[in-house]
Amino acid sequence: MTRRLLIAGNWKMNLSLTASIELAEGLKKVAAGINNLDIAVCPPSIYVQPVAAVLKGSNIGVGAQNVYFEQEGAFTGEISVGMLKDVGCQYVILGHSERRHILGESSELVNLKTHAALAAGLIPIVCVGELLKERETGTTEQVIQRQIDGSFSGVSAEDIRKCVIAYEPVWAIGTGKVATPDQAEDVHVAIRKMIEKNYNKEVAEIVRIQYGGSVNDKNAKEILAKPNVDGALVGGASLKVDPFLGIIKSV
Ligand code: PGA
Repeated sequence: MTRRLLIAGNWKMNLSLTASIELAEGLKKVAAGINNLDIAVCPPSIYVQPVAAVLKGSNIGVGAQNVYFEQEGAFTGEISVGMLKDVGCQYVILGHSERRHILGESSELVNLKTHAALAAGLIPIVCVGELLKERETGTTEQVIQRQIDGSFSGVSAEDIRKCVIAYEPVWAIGTGKVATPDQAEDVHVAIRKMIEKNYNKEVAEIVRIQYGGSVNDKNAKEILAKPNVDGALVGGASLKVDPFLGIIKSV
């Protein structure tokens, strides 16, 4: 089974409009012709449209970092899947640990968003991962099992094939403490077993599982070489052309 790797940049709440456009233009130039993997960038929602306009027709997709599950109405401050589609979005990151832990987002809410994204034809990148104390107390798999079961509840076998799971150990995000390739592979294998248990083996072999957490152009090659690591969700190292290109090229 060969899964097509996905390298996605999560720009988080960084960059200005001008810097976002410059970064998109720079990436478009250097990534032209690279077609052995999928590439995406996820700008702050207010910059999704101008970045999508720059990347239109290129080999780089655009994603959002969050979305609301309702179609429209009195939900001040929220944006819908339809609005994201409207401005050229193909992906949406859901349940990032910063949303789970800073903004109190639950797997139940992530689940509603996952269903909404799938119904709209967006590819959800659903994030899961344990806290340092959960790893230290040996509960990593239980925590992730709960997040997987909750986030994908009611998602059909046909739909889960389209989803991407990002394993992001919270202790590795933005800390420079990357998981070792073996630590990542172990959890990715465990996640694949959970998908197999909830669905079946065929589906489990298709779902892409990215690693995220302090990935850079120096450590990417070794992590991405692991058979169950199907790409990376990259924060800090996605904010400049060269390190992000370095990660792409290490595939
Ligand atoms: P990082 O962030 O690469 O800066 O650790 C990854 C993420 O949070 O998606």
